[in-house]
Amino acid sequence: MMKRWTALSASLGLVVTITALGPLAGALSPRATAQSSSVDLRSVVTGEKLDLNEALPEGRDTEGVKRFLASGRNPYLFDASCLKKGEQTFLAACSGCHGHVGEGKIGPGLNDNYWTYPQGTTDAGLFSIVFGGAQAQMGPQSLSLTLDDILQAMAWVRHLYTGPAQDAEWLSEDQKKSYTPYKLGETFPDDPPGMCRGSGKS
Ligand code: HEC
Repeated sequence: MMKRWTALSASLGLVVTITALGPLAGALSPRATAQSSSVDLRSVVTGEKLDLNEALPEGRDTEGVKRFLASGRNPYLFDASCLKKGEQTFLAACSGCHGHVGEGKIGPGLNDNYWTYPQGTTDAGLFSIVFGGAQAQMGPQSLSLTLDDILQAMAWVRHLYTGPAQDAEWLSEDQKKSYTPYKLGETFPDDPPGMCRGSGKS
């Protein structure tokens, strides 16, 4: 029930905000964008385009961030070096509210197929929720995590998934066939090779 209310109030909030800000937003000229995306990334609360220039200065131009901004797909999903770092970021920045393995706490579960914001089933949508924030305690993580950190944490969130493969929209058809739900106690080698080796937090 709680979740439905949140979703409902989120969509009401959206309508109200658009009605109130529509004319104003049109009058403001868009800022020059040093960091931009060919993918449409919008706040799940206001529907406004996310301003990637608000991203922290570090971690903006990694290969992974470039690929994500060009394709809307997170290239880190199955990269052990990124998962390893993503786990650390998740434990430091997300698990206090979402639970150790994303099972939910004061924030909703992130490891199942129920989404308050259905956008969360795509990488672009999940990024938008994490970067731009949602309601209540889900503040924008853009203030504390770099773009690269966010992609790494997102990869870990996907890795923690335990729901049915057919609802995992972020997986390709082939990836769905080889999907196995996350199991507690799984470990990674200490410094696995991959795109995130030596980048960001270690
Ligand atoms: C201070 C607590 C807090 C922290 C820290 C936090 N969240 Fe949240 N998160 C929430 C709450 C509360 C909601 C519900 C917001 C809503 O419904 O609008 C939420 C919602 C979400 C959602 C939407 C889930 C859905 O069902 O649609 C995602 C995805 C998410 N958080 C990911 C993250 C990630 C990843 C991090 C770490 C980088 C993080 N959150 C950090 C409290 C938090």
